[in-house]
Amino acid sequence: MAYETILVETRGKVGLITLNRPKALNALNSQMQEDVVAALQAYEADETIGAIVITGSEKAFAAGADIKEMHQKSYIDMYMADFFSGWDAMLRIRKPIIAAVSGYALGGGCELAMMCDFIIAGDNAKFGQPEITLGVMPGMGGSQRLTRFVGKSKAMDMCLTGRMMDAEEAERSGLVSRVVPAATLVDEALKAAEKIASFSLPAVLMNKEAVNRSYETTLTEGLRFERRVFHSMFALEDQKEGMEAFSDKRAPNFRNQ
Ligand code: HXC
Repeated sequence: MAYETILVETRGKVGLITLNRPKALNALNSQMQEDVVAALQAYEADETIGAIVITGSEKAFAAGADIKEMHQKSYIDMYMADFFSGWDAMLRIRKPIIAAVSGYALGGGCELAMMCDFIIAGDNAKFGQPEITLGVMPGMGGSQRLTRFVGKSKAMDMCLTGRMMDAEEAERSGLVSRVVPAATLVDEALKAAEKIASFSLPAVLMNKEAVNRSYETTLTEGLRFERRVFHSMFALEDQKEGMEAFSDKRAPNFRNQ
């Protein structure tokens, strides 16, 4: 399928989505939302794919929602379109999605990265929620997800001052899982995705679901959920294969069942 605002390629068992509006620093317009969601859904349906990477350019992962597309809209336009809600489809993707962030991840760009399962940052990455400088506030989850990632104090600081956080601070604060040299960012993210895709897909999906559950429930309910899912994994052939391979001192041959 041809997309207007993104490039897609398949690398082995990994789907790579590259945001591609270079003249607008990958500002997220409605077309890009449609393209990214459609590409994710295509990878989700593709049995040969085990993980997905979303990246941008070296200068910008994405410099925010497209201000030029938004600025003349009225309240009723935004409300009736339920603006930004199209991104919610991303949350229904069960395969892991890694954000590989180089350069600016601002506003909606930071929020898109946070909608992925984890973020690998280039050492040149800059994160921010500068909506306050435009007279608004985050609208794609920034005030909620950023607070859960980095805590109230830093989230307030970011949302109220609009300042940017560099890669080192983002790693220290728990926003990103690791920082790598910008030049090797996509390779490192692909390597992580290939690793994930080499495992049993049902086991990968269950791990993702369990970690995500921790955001939505109490500790007691989360622990109960984890244990039930863990028990259910003993119905998988891949569990037998994984544990037998360990005993036999050989590599497992997972068959996703
Ligand atoms: C539309 C954008 C854009 C954006 C950059 N561009 N960000 N267009 N929406 N979010 C465009 C610029 O207009 C310019 O195009 C081109 O990309 C290059 O940008 P420059 O500003 O010339 O580059 P530079 O000087 O290097 O500065 C980079 C930057 C700056 C610091 C990232 O572009 C910037 O501050 N961008 C806006 C960041 C921001 O506020 N993001 C949050 C958006 S609101 P032209 O054609 O003019 O040369 C949001 C959520 C909204 O995300 C939720 C509430 C409703």
